[in-house]
Amino acid sequence: MTIPSRVKLVDVGPRDGLQNEKQPVPAAVKIELVHRLQAAGLTEVEVTSFVSPKWVPQMADNAEVMAGIERQAGVRYSVLTPNMQGFEAALKSNPDEIVVFAAASEAFSQKNINCSIAESIERFAPVVQAARAAGIYVRGAMSCTVGCPYEGDVAPERVSYLAGLMKGIGVQHIGVADTIGVGTPLKVQRAIEATLKHYDLNDISGHFHDTYGQALANTLIALQMGVWQFDTSVAGLGGCPYAKGATGNVASEDVVYLLQGMGIETGIDLDKLVDAGKFISDFLGRKPNSRAATALLNKRAG
Ligand code: HMG
Ligand code: MG
Repeated sequence: MTIPSRVKLVDVGPRDGLQNEKQPVPAAVKIELVHRLQAAGLTEVEVTSFVSPKWVPQMADNAEVMAGIERQAGVRYSVLTPNMQGFEAALKSNPDEIVVFAAASEAFSQKNINCSIAESIERFAPVVQAARAAGIYVRGAMSCTVGCPYEGDVAPERVSYLAGLMKGIGVQHIGVADTIGVGTPLKVQRAIEATLKHYDLNDISGHFHDTYGQALANTLIALQMGVWQFDTSVAGLGGCPYAKGATGNVASEDVVYLLQGMGIETGIDLDKLVDAGKFISDFLGRKPNSRAATALLNKRAG
C-alpha cells in the first residue's frame, strides 16, 4: 500500500454540481460559492463549462462567472471546453486549465456531446494543441469508465483505449470518472489500472459520483493505489444532465473528513468547507448531501 501523505481536491461543485440544477442560480451566487471554496483552502475549482447553452442552460453565464471571481494566488480555475468554439470563448476568460471530456462508451458519447468517441478525439485535438500553445494546462475527463446508463458495464479495455487516444492528442492529465456512481472498488481499481497503461500515477485523478453510496469506498481504493488527486463536489452537488438518475459527486466534506482521519494533508479547513456547502444548500433550499457536513452542522447546533 502506498497511501499518499498529501491529496489535492478539485472542487467541481460550481460546474458538475450546478450544471444539473433546474432552478436558475444567479452568477453572483456561483461567484460567492467559488470565493467560499477558495477561502476554505481549495486550490483548484472547476468553475463552469463553455458548452452549448441549448444543451446546458445553467452554464450559459460562464463568462460572467469567470469575470466575477476575485482570483486568489495559488488557486487554479478550470473550465470545460468540448470543442474549438468553446475553447475560443473560454480563452477570453483566461482559465488556468481546460477540460476536454470524452466517454469510454459510444452511447454516452453520442448523448452527451453528440458525436462518436473517434469524432470527439478529432474535435479535441486542435483544442488541446491551441491550449498548450497558449500555456494552458489540459486535463481530460473520461466518463463511464465502469458503467454507462445506456450500455451497462464498461470493460477496462474501453478505458485503456480511450486513455491511449487522450494521451495521443496531448491531454496532460486524465480523470477516471464513474459518471453514474455504479462502481464498486474492484471495478474502479480495474479502470484505474487500465488508465495506468497510458498515464503516470501523478497524472490521474478520480471522479466518483455517489449514486449507490460507493464513492468513499472507491476513493479509498484509489488512495491505496497511490492516486492523490480527486474531483469532489461541495455539499455533494451534481450529476450530469445526460446521465439520468445519476446523483452528485462524492461530497468534498466527506472526503476531507476521511482524509483528515487518515492523517492525509489537504490544506482544507473543514469548518469553512461546511460553511460553503451550507451557503449553496441554503440557496437551493435543501440540506447538504454530505454525511460529514450534516454531522458537523448538528454538532454545532447542539
Ligand atoms: P452540436 O449540436 O453537435 O454542436 O453539440 P454543433 O457544432 O453542431 O453546433 C450546434 C449549435 O451549438 C450551434 O448554434 C453552435 O454555435 C452551438 P446554432 O447555430 O444552432 O445557434 N455550439 C456552441 N455554443 C456554445 N459553446 C459551444 C458550442 N458548440 C456549439 N462550445 C456540443 C455539440 C458538444 C456543443 C453539445 O453536445 C454540448 O454542448 N454538450 C455539452 C454536454 C455537457 O455539458 N455535459 C455535461 C458535462 S460532462 C460531465 O458532466 C461529465 C464529467 O463530470 C465526468 C463524469 O462524471 O463522467 C466531466
Ligand atoms: Mg461528473
